[in-house]
Amino acid sequence: MENIFPQWSDIPAEYRIDKAVHQNEYLINGQLLKWDGPFQDVVSPVYLNEQGTLTPKFLGHYPLLTQAQSMAALDAAVAAFDHGRGLWPTMSVEDRIYHLELFTLKMMETREEVVRLLMWEIGKTLGDAQKEFDRTVDYIRDTIQSLKELDRTSSRFSIEQGIMAQIRRAPFGVALCMGPYNYPLNETFTTLIPALIMGNVIIFKPPKFGVLLHSPLLKAFKESFPPGVINTVYGDGESVIRPLMESGKIDVLAFIGSSRVADILKHQHPKPHRMRSVLGLEAKNAAIILKDADIEQVTTEVVLGALSYNGQRCTALKIIFVHESIAEPFLTKFSEKVSALKAGMPWEKDVKITPLPEAGKIEYLNTLIEDAQKYGAKIINANGGNCNRTVFFPAVLFPVNEKMRVYHEEQFGPVVPVVAFSSINEPVEYIINSNYGQQVSIFGNDADEISELIDPLVNQVCRVNINSQCQRGPDSFPFTGRKDSAEGTLSVSDALRVFSIRTLVAAKSSPTNNALVKEIIRENKSNFLSTDFIF
Ligand code: G3H
Repeated sequence: MENIFPQWSDIPAEYRIDKAVHQNEYLINGQLLKWDGPFQDVVSPVYLNEQGTLTPKFLGHYPLLTQAQSMAALDAAVAAFDHGRGLWPTMSVEDRIYHLELFTLKMMETREEVVRLLMWEIGKTLGDAQKEFDRTVDYIRDTIQSLKELDRTSSRFSIEQGIMAQIRRAPFGVALCMGPYNYPLNETFTTLIPALIMGNVIIFKPPKFGVLLHSPLLKAFKESFPPGVINTVYGDGESVIRPLMESGKIDVLAFIGSSRVADILKHQHPKPHRMRSVLGLEAKNAAIILKDADIEQVTTEVVLGALSYNGQRCTALKIIFVHESIAEPFLTKFSEKVSALKAGMPWEKDVKITPLPEAGKIEYLNTLIEDAQKYGAKIINANGGNCNRTVFFPAVLFPVNEKMRVYHEEQFGPVVPVVAFSSINEPVEYIINSNYGQQVSIFGNDADEISELIDPLVNQVCRVNINSQCQRGPDSFPFTGRKDSAEGTLSVSDALRVFSIRTLVAAKSSPTNNALVKEIIRENKSNFLSTDFIF
């Protein structure tokens, strides 16, 4: 831990950031505008060791825009939608797909740069950063495929009670998309892409960390979409987001972050009922380890579930309930596996524990630990809680109880609270009383016991995992949550629905109407009223 931070010469050339990224442009109305106002400096959570002195690596800066640029982005988006009359919302699905495919090709050229910035800006390991990029490209491709299928089904007419109708999905208008820092590319794009392809126009603001990695994509956006269809804002939320919300012109809010901020944003809209919200919020997913669980399997899966990307996943296992009869062997094996995790820099081979990007995070984790210790918990794994600057070695806390903050709060970091239970009611009541309702993992081998848990728990959370960690993927599966954990459902196909509304064109069947509709279709006069089939 003491010598964890590298010297510049220790870093393989291909992973170094040789030149700081001075991002002085922002995209509004199809133009990359130069910014000469104040900038936000970006420093890495990775420190460099310069002759014994540790300094965080300076990565570059991005524009700190003001209300004026934010309103310019809004005006551009509103004009591009033009109350549904704009080029983009009236364009055929096939043509919109063409633009998105063009973007994807250009995006793929930025892979190396984006992956490098993911490592330096948010401390994601090389493997996970590559996975995040590739998963996002796959998501775009799957979205296109899913839209084609949706469009094929919608290209036919329905005739009911003498009325013929063509039922399709239409966009809402201006979508404001904001992703989280732990998946700054992927989770921003899992809302931005479906919103865009359904014909909405976009304003997007990158998360608080992971901003610079979007800069190579600005040119690709500019070159791939008509002016005003996609616009970016950067800076302090109070200056750039509040005016957008207060304008009342945001039709869809796609936000992944905390429920506290989501509530503030929604209340800033003068007519919140007009705005659709697609929200991915906090979670405190529990693992329930039953008495017959396979210790080897469960410990491997819980390490993965609780500590991948240092536990900074909304889906991470954030509290572990283990049956008291196997608490001891579980804790011994689990602590062993946690302590064997390699801490280091994101590009190092087999590294699992990396620098944390949030300022004050280590202090927060230490506060949770001190609070738990006050009520009788101990750190039970070797090196647990050791830290150096931004690196925090995972701490397994046991025995944890309801008096402790870590029992209730979403730690979003490498602290793993473990509770021993004697009655299954204890973890079940925990989930019932929790403010969150995303997922749960049950570990065990008794079909009767597991099915008795499945039936009530599916009504408390939105995914019950058996002998498997909690996770979002595969992206074709629905991803959502109850209570404070989410609003709206995301999956490749669900997202297309969530960012659009069913609209139909209907006519009473009569010789005149039949002839009229036939003419519109035969002569390809409308992009909506059309039986064209996308291959
Ligand atoms: O942070 C929340 C992410 O949606 C989790 O995704 O389960 O694929 O890591 P993941």
